[in-house]
Amino acid sequence: MSKEILTLKNVSKTFGDGDTSTTVLKNISFALQQGEFIAIVGPSGSGKSTLLSIIGALLTSSSGNVVINSKNISTYRPKQLSSVRLENIGFIFQSAHLVPYLTVKDQLMLISDISKKNKKENSKRATDFLQHLGLSHRLQTYPNKLSGGEKQRVAIARALMNDPDIILADEPTASLDSARGKQVVELISHEVKSRNKAAIMVTHDERVLHVCDRVLHIEDGKIIEK
Ligand SMILES: Nc1ncnc2c1ncn2[C@@H]1O[C@H](COP(=O)(O)OP(=O)(O)OP(=O)(O)O)[C@@H](O)[C@H]1O
Ligand SMILES: [Mg+2]
Repeated sequence: MSKEILTLKNVSKTFGDGDTSTTVLKNISFALQQGEFIAIVGPSGSGKSTLLSIIGALLTSSSGNVVINSKNISTYRPKQLSSVRLENIGFIFQSAHLVPYLTVKDQLMLISDISKKNKKENSKRATDFLQHLGLSHRLQTYPNKLSGGEKQRVAIARALMNDPDIILADEPTASLDSARGKQVVELISHEVKSRNKAAIMVTHDERVLHVCDRVLHIEDGKIIEK
């Protein structure tokens, strides 16, 4: 049975105030089910990253509700939002954003240090994820020795470390060639389907859209489902 994991109701976002204010998102509503992988596409400046940041509890909306796992995070204070980020959300960005002075394995352990779970268990979890992503020979490698595709796979493993309900990816294939890009998207899809998660990917890359269940088009701050 599918379960609604995320609901947006009339979410709007305005930056600034008075004469200089701009409304970037206008009454956005949609829902995401467990096991669903959706793509968001739209022109540059249409509000895609802003939307992802609001869903990921990095930014608050100006009005409307964002409900994650039955919790209305729109009413949350900053401290509560940071625990939502840690417990419910896994982020993957355009460039992998790895910490330069940590090895591949430690990039993942950092997340578990923050969430203070069982260290031994997490170490095994990190090793398993990296092995699953074909990186077992890279555990002690630093980011500057990794290829673009390897870095992005580490970023994916890191995003999955805290067992998030929702994976958010902002142009995860932008720095990759088409074969690597396809791999990364298939990996996200596999994670969503096999572990009953949900994912939203912002992308400009038409070649990977077929992997997603639905494509939401955003234009001028509004969603149009084609
Ligand atoms: N902190 C901010 N303050 C003011 N304006 C902002 C802020 N963040 C984003 N904007 C504006 O909001 C609009 C949407 O930005 P956003 O980054 O969400 O677009 P996008 O769809 O992700 O674009 P791209 O495809 O280029 O990444 C842009 O006009 C941008 O200038
Ligand atoms: Mg963007």
